[in-house]
Amino acid sequence: MNLKTQLTLPCGATLQNRIAKSAMSENMSPKHNAPTKALIHAYKRWVYGGYGLLITGDVMIDRKAIGEPGNVIVEDKRDFKKLQEWASIVKDTGIHLWPQINHPGRQAIGFLNKEVVAPSAVMTNLKGMSSFFKKPRALTELEILDIIERFGNTAAILKEAGFTGVQIHGAHGYLVSQFLSPLVNQRNDQWGGSLENRARFVIETYRNIRAKVGKDFPIGIKINSADFQRGGFTEEESMEVVQLLDAEGIDLIEVSGGSYERPAMIGSEQKKSTQEREAYFLDYIVKVRKLLKTPLMLTGGFRTVTTMESAIANGELDIVGIARPFTLHPDLPNRIFDGTIKQLEVPTPKFGIKMLDSSGFVDIMWHEIHIQRLGDGKKPNPKLSAYSVIGHNLSGTMKKMIAGMNLFKKPA
Ligand SMILES: Cc1cc2nc3c(=O)[nH]c(=O)nc-3n(C[C@H](O)[C@H](O)[C@H](O)COP(=O)(O)O)c2cc1C
Repeated sequence: MNLKTQLTLPCGATLQNRIAKSAMSENMSPKHNAPTKALIHAYKRWVYGGYGLLITGDVMIDRKAIGEPGNVIVEDKRDFKKLQEWASIVKDTGIHLWPQINHPGRQAIGFLNKEVVAPSAVMTNLKGMSSFFKKPRALTELEILDIIERFGNTAAILKEAGFTGVQIHGAHGYLVSQFLSPLVNQRNDQWGGSLENRARFVIETYRNIRAKVGKDFPIGIKINSADFQRGGFTEEESMEVVQLLDAEGIDLIEVSGGSYERPAMIGSEQKKSTQEREAYFLDYIVKVRKLLKTPLMLTGGFRTVTTMESAIANGELDIVGIARPFTLHPDLPNRIFDGTIKQLEVPTPKFGIKMLDSSGFVDIMWHEIHIQRLGDGKKPNPKLSAYSVIGHNLSGTMKKMIAGMNLFKKPA
């Protein structure tokens, strides 16, 4: 087995190779939260790269719950033609294109949303940035059922538009992961308390989607190996939840970790030795591998082709997930396959101010700017400084934020 080997998923769909682009929020749809020409153009550039699977940045399932300014929202068919245009770029290529579907829960920029909801009224605690967030209101049971239904509806619309699968965002501190976390989920009804109860939301969400898209359509999930927080969702609990999802027949489990509060997904919580060894969550996946038959994807820190190849050849995982390096090299899989790239160089722009650098904010924004450059047909600029992120934010993103705020005044 190697990086070029095909993979057939439990639903019967086949991925043409073992390299996947993991989700990166693009925030390129500021006005009406619909796919724009530039967003579609960025994906066209990835389509020429030779991927097995492209997972989009997170797509919101509810217009009342927006994670970041410029997210695409799919809650009805108002932008169906644009969704069809986006999905059509993989037609006849053999590449899979799966939108990642998400509800942010409490981890949503406050002024984009009239109100923020979560399993319990527990505030996001982000040092120095708490003014970006609102105290959430605890969801009622009827609202929980409504959100589960929305996940299913969004997936059904995306399938009809021509996307070839969907991924549930169950990681990084958003709503699914809030339900799993005993720190954020302090409910004492059937949605909180025991792990079985905390996992009910993700299981019911999966079932609802499956009922609406049918048995042949790929459904994946991105899930945390742990939250990396004292009293949070642990590795042992994560292992139990993935076994429940395995028993349900999910098609692909992508492993990550952390949240805004502890950004382990981009390496901030990892020891230097783990960062150097690459593949941040490899220890977890090696353990979980023995417990499941569901194909596993690992994302976070892969930087050398040798490490990727040996992880696949040793059967430790099925899909290598990569994110940041693809913003600089959209054709990377092809260059890995033809042997012209052996090592992925990824700049880690820093301000030199610990609080800002460790939040991951600069790193994420820097790569987001590069996705936007792809969409605008520009070349990557590996020398772009951390300070340009501020400049970009003050101009482009602030405009988007203002456009995002208009959502409630004038629905598109
Ligand atoms: C700009 C940017 C946006 C991201 N947006 C998402 C997202 O929408 N959903 C998600 O699951 N992960 C998101 N991530 C995390 C990546 O998918 C990935 O887990 C992380 O970058 C580690 O992989 P890497 O070391 O290959 O970059 C984002 C990362 C970056 C840099």
